[in-house]
Amino acid sequence: MDASDQRCTDPTVLDLWHPLVAVSEMATDNVERTLLLGFEIMYGTDRDGTRFAVRVDEPDEALPVLDRHGYLWTSLGAPPADVFTIPETAEPDRRTLNAASIKVATSAPRAIENFLDMGHFPYVHTDYLGVEPHTEVAEYRVEIENDELWARDCFFYQPMAAASAVGGQLSEYTYRVPHPYCVMLYKSSPTDPSRSDVIGLFVQAMTQDTIRAHNFLSVIDETSSDTVLRRFQQIIFSQDKPILENQFPTRLPLDPRVETPIRADRSAIVYRRWLTELGLAYAVIPAG
Ligand SMILES: [Fe+2]
Repeated sequence: MDASDQRCTDPTVLDLWHPLVAVSEMATDNVERTLLLGFEIMYGTDRDGTRFAVRVDEPDEALPVLDRHGYLWTSLGAPPADVFTIPETAEPDRRTLNAASIKVATSAPRAIENFLDMGHFPYVHTDYLGVEPHTEVAEYRVEIENDELWARDCFFYQPMAAASAVGGQLSEYTYRVPHPYCVMLYKSSPTDPSRSDVIGLFVQAMTQDTIRAHNFLSVIDETSSDTVLRRFQQIIFSQDKPILENQFPTRLPLDPRVETPIRADRSAIVYRRWLTELGLAYAVIPAG
């Protein structure tokens, strides 16, 4: 696992919180290893139940850790007081779980940008999230608000929008990017249209070109088993994985002259501009 030439030196990224693992998948009394920003990390749970993480090359210096949204988060720099909040998860009838943590040969920003793109639904998620001839991406709004990217009024016809869906529906989406490497979407729940299911992709940048994608779910669904909820999301992500692994270059070019998004993809344009404004340099090709 030598990735020392990929070690992050970008303070913007070092100071972020990064997800390492779903807490429900942590074995007790076992130290595990993973990669984060090119650094080997050991993490686990002490005998008294305290979570910990350390860099393998600095085992005496404990890294900050937080247990949030079902994941263990750490930082290699000076992180903010907390991870972004997801107020919906406090609703008592919600099911919140990790659908899967999947290693992908891509960069974190490529995974975020793909998640924001509705245009690929009919072609990549055929008969699930889209179907021909319903291919049009209607105009939607994108804004930066309180240091987060929000895309609103996104509508797309979906043949099978969720594990609990029966038949097609015109789904309304809201996208939220609260962190350069984390993205969420809110969409009307098939079982309670007044509320939203929340689907997230919390990306652990192992290196600039390799990620673990943690698939977060918080849904209103009393009937589907955990296995069925997970399987639906795993099918969707397994359709995205080869698309992500075939994108070139792997790192996201931030210079608008280098790569023009093929579709009228406002959220991608605003996302790239936002990363540039943050001065983010890891897993991207910065604008010259
Ligand atoms: Fe997709």
